[in-house]
Amino acid sequence: MPKIKPGHKITTIERHIMDRQADLPDATGALTSLLYDIALAGKLIASRTTRAGLADILGGTGQENIQGEEVKKLDVYAQKVIYQLNDHTGRLAAMGSEEEDEIIPIPDKYPTGKYVLLFDPLDGSSNIDFNVSVGTIFAIFKRKTESGPGTLEDVLQKGADIVAGGYMVYGSSTMFVYSTGDGVHGFTLDPSVGEFLLSHPNIRLPEKPKYYSANQGYQSRWTEGIQRYTRWLRGEEGADRSLSLRYIGSMIADIHRNLLGGGVFYYPSDSRAPTGKLRVLYEAIPMSFIIEQAGGYASTGRSPIRDLQPTELHQRTPLFVGNKDLVEKAEEFIAKYDKA
Ligand code: AHG
Repeated sequence: MPKIKPGHKITTIERHIMDRQADLPDATGALTSLLYDIALAGKLIASRTTRAGLADILGGTGQENIQGEEVKKLDVYAQKVIYQLNDHTGRLAAMGSEEEDEIIPIPDKYPTGKYVLLFDPLDGSSNIDFNVSVGTIFAIFKRKTESGPGTLEDVLQKGADIVAGGYMVYGSSTMFVYSTGDGVHGFTLDPSVGEFLLSHPNIRLPEKPKYYSANQGYQSRWTEGIQRYTRWLRGEEGADRSLSLRYIGSMIADIHRNLLGGGVFYYPSDSRAPTGKLRVLYEAIPMSFIIEQAGGYASTGRSPIRDLQPTELHQRTPLFVGNKDLVEKAEEFIAKYDKA
């Protein structure tokens, strides 16, 4: 696991992002500032999630979001913080959030910019009441239209076109993990000074994976290909190794663990959810980007996530993400046993 050695120089997230900007001759600083504001949102959200059991904040708001899931109060807070830090900066043409049914426009009184920001403010929020790690996921694209308010065309982009993405995980410590296409870098929040410090430079997936992560409670709903694949991961079906099962049920935490320990996370389609559960734009694309930048691979089970062209804001997809050989094996089982 890549970790900073004692005595290594201390790099704040601001320094790290700015150093990268210096390598790009035509950079205006907009992306740098945007990433920095996302990190700031992460600090604000972390300060609430770590006090979730203390404040009168647990439980639902009684509203349902577009996905028909109960909205937790911390989701609402996280949504607001990210929106308010980004609506007026002139860097964005529009935003999109898992918590909002429509594209989020930039208010008329503020200028628009060249990027769009898509985010899941609090992934895994059904776990908050149980003190389980949750997180924020984000993806940044360049707008497609020339100017004016951002449109659907600007936000419905393929994973292959992502400019930057990553996540913040609010766990036993808060981490910010991001990529701008030159590898994956992880920072740990020092809460005593409120700074994200570089703790995991150039993260690469370990070559020998340890874990497989899926909700095996749904096994009876899975296709033959997925069932056989799962047995293969457990050392059956002709496999020459077996992996340990780890499933938190909070995708960021599951994928983060597998990023550092090696493994595969999958949330396939099943007989009740024919398109899977996870959202293309807010979950699959940014998490797949991180894993691929760390040397892994992400697939729908039949083709790369990065090639998937979303046609709807809240589109879902089956997702297989992790070490390349493990994800390719899933594709093999699906191609062999499941009808297209
Ligand atoms: P939510 O944000 O509503 O808690 O959804 C979490 C997502 C994802 O983080 C996780 O991997 C998956 O849903 C878990 O779903 P199951 O409970 O169906 O396994």
